[in-house]
Amino acid sequence: MTLKFLVMSDLHLVPEGELSMTLDTSARLEAAVDAVIARHGDADFCVLAGDLADLGQAAAYERLKSIVARLPIPVHITLGNHDDRPIFLDVFGADFAGETGKVDKVIDVKGYRIILLDSSEPGRVDGLLEPGQIDWLRAQLAEAMDRPVIVILHHNANALHIGSDDIRMLEPDAFIAALKTHPDVRQVIAGHVHLTSTATWRGLPFTTLAGGHYSVSFNVDQPSVPVRRLTGPGQMAVVVGTEERTTVLFDDFIDGNGEIVLAPQAPKIEVEVA
Ligand SMILES: [Fe+2]
Repeated sequence: MTLKFLVMSDLHLVPEGELSMTLDTSARLEAAVDAVIARHGDADFCVLAGDLADLGQAAAYERLKSIVARLPIPVHITLGNHDDRPIFLDVFGADFAGETGKVDKVIDVKGYRIILLDSSEPGRVDGLLEPGQIDWLRAQLAEAMDRPVIVILHHNANALHIGSDDIRMLEPDAFIAALKTHPDVRQVIAGHVHLTSTATWRGLPFTTLAGGHYSVSFNVDQPSVPVRRLTGPGQMAVVVGTEERTTVLFDDFIDGNGEIVLAPQAPKIEVEVA
């Protein structure tokens, strides 16, 4: 009985006719769905880990809904800092809100408990879990002491030695303390950074995936060096779980390291009003 599920993140969908950072993000999601159909139709489900819409527009969520309808497996969702929770719930339905009021969810499957946490907070780019969510997380973990657990959320709690460390989950102590109440947290998986990474921090395993949008170049511990935005990869994570082993593989459904060069902004013309 092997668990297999997919994580997609940072889809950054926009309304029809628009691009995001020069990229056709809907076409990229279509490519992800094609990859699932070609290679991962046997997965138990797919998690969308936030930044689903680039600017939280209803038209972008409608587009998301119609594209993921092609997936041959169930879809579970949580949100990121680019999302708009009320608009998302309007389009997808109020049932997506958990008992915490945020888009949290627990999935029990093949001997594992998977916990989705909504780390988005209106008006903030960094991640936040409210006290009610921490209590809920502790309760979900307490119910599953006999099983391995995987936690998925948009924001990375661990610093990665890169410029975007200042927009991670900046106050992770309560989150870490809650995770530490469980003896078998197999993975904490996030998107947000548009970069693939694995880490061990405070005795816990953390992973980020590059996701569906652009990815970024980085310089270790040189936050002032500007990043280059790259066209690829379009990447999903493929999580494989057995009783003794949990593995995260990465499927780059779009290759490419071309640099995105944005057109220079036209200088603003000051108009004097008499
Ligand atoms: Fe993102």
